[in-house]
Amino acid sequence: MKLLVTGGAGFMGSNFIHYILKKYPEYEVINLDKLTYAGNLKNLSDIENNPNYRFVKGDICDANIINELVPQVDAVINYAAETHVDRSILAPQEFAQTDVIGTLTILNSIRENGNKVRLVQISTDEVFGSIEDGKFTESSPFEPNSPYAASKAGGDLMCRAFWVTYKTPVIVTHSCNFYGPFHYPEKLIPLAITNLLEGKKVPVYGDGKQVREWIYTQDHCSAVDTILHKGVEGEVYNIGTEREFENIDIVKRILDVLGMNEGFIEYVKDRPGHDRRYSLDTSKLRNELGWKPEIEFDQGIKDTVEWFKNNEAWWKEIKSGEYKNYYNQQYGRKD
Ligand code: NAD
Ligand code: DAU
Repeated sequence: MKLLVTGGAGFMGSNFIHYILKKYPEYEVINLDKLTYAGNLKNLSDIENNPNYRFVKGDICDANIINELVPQVDAVINYAAETHVDRSILAPQEFAQTDVIGTLTILNSIRENGNKVRLVQISTDEVFGSIEDGKFTESSPFEPNSPYAASKAGGDLMCRAFWVTYKTPVIVTHSCNFYGPFHYPEKLIPLAITNLLEGKKVPVYGDGKQVREWIYTQDHCSAVDTILHKGVEGEVYNIGTEREFENIDIVKRILDVLGMNEGFIEYVKDRPGHDRRYSLDTSKLRNELGWKPEIEFDQGIKDTVEWFKNNEAWWKEIKSGEYKNYYNQQYGRKD
């Protein structure tokens, strides 16, 4: 099988490429990535000489490059996106461009190429908005609250429209929060771990009682693998662990793993429009495609802390670059 993985130099895209080339060494993977601030070829340095792997630098909004690559593969897995909610609040424009227009460009290319290539669209639970009680199913209405979530919803709706109108073979996934190796340190878990390893405090928004559901990288890869091979075109699948934690509990668990105390928690002003809780019903993926997650949160978080301890050069380089400006602006800091 030949795959085009877009956004393969980012956090989850690079984890997925590693997973696929290990599990199916005969598969061929093209990684198309624009290398924004979040893209990092060091995530893939161990496979750069693998003859079944090829990197192409490019933008998913560029129809020329997409039209050149789509006919070369059997499936596209679209990880490419602007992904950070806080950055979408600071500067929303690029989110609509990549997450809506980029997805449209891929869909249109597949359509013009005769609808022979399957697209797996990697999307988010955030498109459904916030839920106080109960869980979102695949047919829950979209009520996005941040520019990021609205942009992802736009891309997903484009997928739906292409399936209904042209029978473009697309499957949309809605995932809960990922965590694990190569997680860009702007997100809560890697930000907390790396700040603590530097002896700095962890900024917790508002009261810290917002609820998120977390999935370890390996489990997300196996879910996408299952959907790529066994998923039904035109369908939508939620991906999650159904294990929820308040943000403050996540931070306390990381402090525990590092043997540090709660003096390192700093409550800061809340995120505007902050969604209180996400929760996914994942019974469709479990019952219809036979997938289940394997990694317990306590094990996943220990492994993640260990990875960041062992890969200091990787995250220190990120934190000393553009990240510094973002961090100072977001948290009103100079440290
Ligand atoms: P990330 O921010 O770590 O990486 C995104 C990658 O996309 C980067 O390599 C970047 O260079 C690339 N990219 C951005 N714009 C591009 C463009 N126009 N053309 C080509 N490449 C481009 O992302 P992530 O956290 O790994 O998320 C991957 C996908 O999963 C995204 O679609 C995101 O919406 C979705 N998702 C993420 C999470 C999460 O917890 N991180 C949860 C659910 C869904
Ligand atoms: O739910 C899936 C989504 O998860 C993905 O679609 C997004 O791409 C991904 O970024 C993530 O969004 P969140 O906003 O949930 O992730 P983040 O790590 O930014 O924040 C997790 C929670 O922690 C959220 O409630 C905000 C809070 N938080 C975050 C940061 C960065 C803090 O309290 N302090 C922080 O410094």
